[in-house]
Amino acid sequence: MSTALIIGGCKGIGRAIVARLASDGFDIIATSRKAGPDSETTEQLVRAQNRAFTHLALDVTDADGSKATLLPYLEGDLLPDVIVYNAGIAKDNLFAFMDAEEWRKVLDTNLNGFYNTVQPFVFGMLARKKGRIIVISSASGQTGQAGQVNYSASKAALLGAVKALAREIGKKGILVNAVAPGVIDTEMTKALPKEQLLPIIPLRRYGTCEEVASVVSFLAGPDSTYVTGQVIAVNGGLVI
Ligand SMILES: NC(=O)c1ccc[n+]([C@@H]2O[C@H](COP(=O)([O-])OP(=O)(O)OC[C@H]3O[C@@H](n4cnc5c(N)ncnc54)[C@H](OP(=O)(O)O)[C@@H]3O)[C@@H](O)[C@H]2O)c1
Repeated sequence: MSTALIIGGCKGIGRAIVARLASDGFDIIATSRKAGPDSETTEQLVRAQNRAFTHLALDVTDADGSKATLLPYLEGDLLPDVIVYNAGIAKDNLFAFMDAEEWRKVLDTNLNGFYNTVQPFVFGMLARKKGRIIVISSASGQTGQAGQVNYSASKAALLGAVKALAREIGKKGILVNAVAPGVIDTEMTKALPKEQLLPIIPLRRYGTCEEVASVVSFLAGPDSTYVTGQVIAVNGGLVI
């Protein structure tokens, strides 16, 4: 049986990815910072598909703590077949007013968190000569977004990391891809001015978490065995 690890898998887009991969037949390991109602709801979704569920509590900005929590899963039978890096935050501000904390927190979570939680698995995947790494970037990382210099920088950096890593470890049978959502209906986008955004989205609506999860499902599944180093946009035409 195959296992998928979703870093940031207990709410929003991450939870939809968990639910979709469980319905695809994966056993699930999902992280959040704390166990609680979010992880319990996520566990129920997975159990309803008769798949195994493990919750791990970790903060991706804590390199040592994350590695210690992930240690049992870094090699051997517990090594996941698919790793999805979904953890991310936004702290929007105009760059002229952006303080060091807003810059640092976003880069620490979105970019350094990827290093802290995904890099430790690469040796095990290389030894096993198979695996999938899927990174949730953003349309902001593809085009840059005013008011999101920190977020855009972190998400663009993830695209560079995905492309470089795909070149580095493709010969060992490991596929590395990114998904770049546009505006998706989650907590993160609740405060955005919808009436200003809808006119610039050709499909004239926000995306759903399930619409992102279905692309992750493709990248995790049997129909994408010759796809690596790619960025698949899920954005209703926001970026064309
Ligand atoms: N919503 C959108 O329109 C949109 C568009 C493009 C890209 N994205 C990206 O999609 C991903 C999910 O976003 P979302 O909209 O579903 O937002 P969300 O509901 O706020 O979820 C954010 C996720 O990141 C995790 N996370 C944040 N900081 C963390 C930390 N320090 N350590 C560990 N986990 C941390 C959260 O875990 P906890 O459960 O511990 O809070 C949660 O799983 C993010 O990478 C985001 O940048 C979203």
